[in-house]
Amino acid sequence: MNQAALILIKPDGLKKSLTGNILTRLSETKLEIVAAKMVRVSKELAEEHYRHLKDRPFFGEIIKYLRGELHNRKKVMALIYWGEEAIKKCRQLAGATNPEEADPTSIRGSYGRITTSGVYENVIHVSSDGPDAEREIKLWFQPDEIIVELYPCKEVIDKEKKRKVWA
Ligand code: PPS
Repeated sequence: MNQAALILIKPDGLKKSLTGNILTRLSETKLEIVAAKMVRVSKELAEEHYRHLKDRPFFGEIIKYLRGELHNRKKVMALIYWGEEAIKKCRQLAGATNPEEADPTSIRGSYGRITTSGVYENVIHVSSDGPDAEREIKLWFQPDEIIVELYPCKEVIDKEKKRKVWA
């Protein structure tokens, strides 16, 4: 069954110049990239992304981490991988969430670390299941930014909205 997975290359991955390595590793899946962009992560977006962790002691730190405040890299790269068993394949290459427990040949095992305050700096995020992927993709991307129709959409005429166009 074809599936979509949200991948985020987090600020530590960008700061360590790992984008190429990570994309090369993920290309082993033979999945299709159907969307990709650089994102400056607002506090609202980070808090919504990790909303299920709101009561965890590390919540404040992971918000700062995702927003790049710990690495002086205020951006993440967001991608959608699409194809057969996309989530399972991407998660397998990513390795366990805790970089100390991750297979040392996996992305997180190779490049991740745990900070002295106990936060996992694990280089990438991968959606954990189908419903999670749908929630995250709808949060990070608009339908027009994705080259396939992953989920049902509707058309609206939005003339009032201010936006930038090329001068
Ligand atoms: S759960 O409930 O722990 O299974 O939650 P999970 O969905 O795996 O997401 C946990 C995210 O928080 C990040 N993180 C940590 N988790 C647990 N313990 C510590 N100390 C910790 N520090 C950070 C973890 O990396 C998960 O985020 P993602 O973006 O998915 O890697």
